[in-house]
Amino acid sequence: MSTMSEKEVEIAEPKGKLGVLLVGLGAVSTTFIAGVEAIKKGLGEPIGSLTQMGTIRLGKRTEKRIPQISDFVPLADLNDLVFAAWDLFDDDAYAAAVKSGVLEADLLKELKPELEKIHPMKAVFDNRYVKRLQGTHVKQGKTKWDLAQQLIEDIEQFKAVNDLERTVMIWCGSTEIFITQSEVHGSLEALESGMKANDDNIPSSMIYAYAALKMGIPFANGAPNLTVDIPAFLELAEVNQVPICGKDFKTGQTLMKTILAPGLKARMIGLSGWFSTNILGNRDGEVLDDPESFKTKEESKLSVLEHILQPDVYPQLYGDFYHKVRINYYPPRRDNKEGWDNLDIFGWLGYPMQIKIDFLCRDSILAAPLVLDLVLFLDLAKRAGMFGIQEWLSFYFKSPMTPPELYPEHDLFIQLMKLKNTLRYMRGEGQITHLGRDYYE
Ligand SMILES: NC(=O)c1ccc[n+]([C@@H]2O[C@H](COP(=O)([O-])OP(=O)(O)OC[C@H]3O[C@@H](n4cnc5c(N)ncnc54)[C@H](O)[C@@H]3O)[C@@H](O)[C@H]2O)c1
Repeated sequence: MSTMSEKEVEIAEPKGKLGVLLVGLGAVSTTFIAGVEAIKKGLGEPIGSLTQMGTIRLGKRTEKRIPQISDFVPLADLNDLVFAAWDLFDDDAYAAAVKSGVLEADLLKELKPELEKIHPMKAVFDNRYVKRLQGTHVKQGKTKWDLAQQLIEDIEQFKAVNDLERTVMIWCGSTEIFITQSEVHGSLEALESGMKANDDNIPSSMIYAYAALKMGIPFANGAPNLTVDIPAFLELAEVNQVPICGKDFKTGQTLMKTILAPGLKARMIGLSGWFSTNILGNRDGEVLDDPESFKTKEESKLSVLEHILQPDVYPQLYGDFYHKVRINYYPPRRDNKEGWDNLDIFGWLGYPMQIKIDFLCRDSILAAPLVLDLVLFLDLAKRAGMFGIQEWLSFYFKSPMTPPELYPEHDLFIQLMKLKNTLRYMRGEGQITHLGRDYYE
């Protein structure tokens, strides 16, 4: 049996510069940008990034073909990335990185010339959607529609000044208040009229997403806000053939959940309760201290276990587990979060056991490589003519976007297989099912 599938997907070469538009120039964005600059100078390694460190097995195990992902699919080179950002605070990327307190001062000093050059553009921001922040570096406009046009002008200028071939946009802005889908989100027409009428159900993040998709720019949402996950944007992504994905980077505690829960389920171990609590002291923690922003985050964090454990399918094991997530703003810890998990599990004959996790993690250190991978993979998807929801990028998100009729896949290992099989598909390589009978025939 041939391991090649029918046909390779045609993928345009990554020629020229790739513009990276970041909404928000906070801890995650600056750790990402500074990290890329440090890696380019040989001051650090891209740990945690699949596009930079990952390999992919092709064909049978006996063939020993395991190229680097970056040699297998044509990705943009780190030297070709050009950064721009919007923020409601006027700090350049160096000042913002110092304030975020993630990377060491000595390292940041070495990167100062590159970081200082990145001045944020004025934000589209309305304090009603992020109650804990007040900023002055903010665009003025009569309507949300006008504000979108201003963003489009910013992007056009960024492209012209830097002679960019392609661009991608990643939401690394604060978590907005909880908003559910309503009529104005139902179609592109309704959304455009709503923007002109300043409809309250259109938060700032949707105005950025609109500008991106309108210009054919791929968009990823790193926060749990609804943003691009509405029918109006699915429609626009389809019409303009733009890849989109989200929501909410899967980094600390939720990453651990989606590693552990599939393992417990694989062994048919029961769960009676999972209590998760966090302390963190960065600006993200401050924003999440507002109950309305926390609600958005909570929804995103809670859905994971339900989907992985399938209580309907396994009522004796998971029919009745108690799941609680707490986030506590605690300034002394800054970006270095501590997350505790207590799992009450049960085994053979229902005998109870416990697992305790104390994860001293660094939020932005875990998030930065995800931003890099999303930039490179979204650009790849666009060059490969893929558009709409990119489910193969679920690997990176706590609340992966799916079409309304599909439930999301949360299991990290299924997500990774989906991602790698998509890359194999793009290159006309056979899918790997791990059946392996042919080794014994
Ligand atoms: N770090 C992680 O592990 C992680 C994981 C999942 C999700 N996230 C999400 O990623 C986002 C960024 O996290 P962070 O730690 O960098 O937070 P941060 O507070 O350090 O940075 C966010 C920045 O966005 C800016 N901002 C807010 N609204 C904006 C708007 N409308 N336009 C332009 N800028 C705006 C803020 O001023 C701030 O500088 C948050 O929503 C967070 O919940 C982070």
